[in-house]
Amino acid sequence: MALLDIKKYPARVLKQKAVPVEKIDDELQQLIDDMIETMYAAPGVGLAAPQVGISKRLAVIDISMREETVPLLVLINPVILSQEGEIEFEEGCLSVPDYTAKVKRAESLVISALDRSGQQVEIETGGLLSIAVQHELDHLDGILFIDRLSPIRREFFKKKYKKKQKTED
Ligand code: NI
Repeated sequence: MALLDIKKYPARVLKQKAVPVEKIDDELQQLIDDMIETMYAAPGVGLAAPQVGISKRLAVIDISMREETVPLLVLINPVILSQEGEIEFEEGCLSVPDYTAKVKRAESLVISALDRSGQQVEIETGGLLSIAVQHELDHLDGILFIDRLSPIRREFFKKKYKKKQKTED
């Protein structure tokens, strides 16, 4: 296994719509293992393939550090079947370091995806897992949580972020 390099905003790959995974082969299994290791090392509760520079519809999620009973999820070509309610939560992202903001999302979801063995699964999620799933699915469509902020707050973020990058240079 290997740690992968996490792409940071404003990397272009983060803005691209990812393409469906077509083959679940050894290469993909390797990528999944590397993504899981990279997520744990960061540490983070989720990681989507575009965040490691691979524009494919694949994400790994593990919120067990917050909610112990929820297992590690590997989602290949995930689709939202239905969603309900509204929840607001302070989100962060490994690709947008040192910044968090409140984002509104659906409170509960039903999704369909392939697991890493290629089996079609349907998953019902609520609360934190539902937020994590929506955040990662957004990555597959080239959307970051900062894109979900109001225009004013997004401008504020951009200014703050640019300033921070300048001080680091
Ligand atoms: Ni993220």
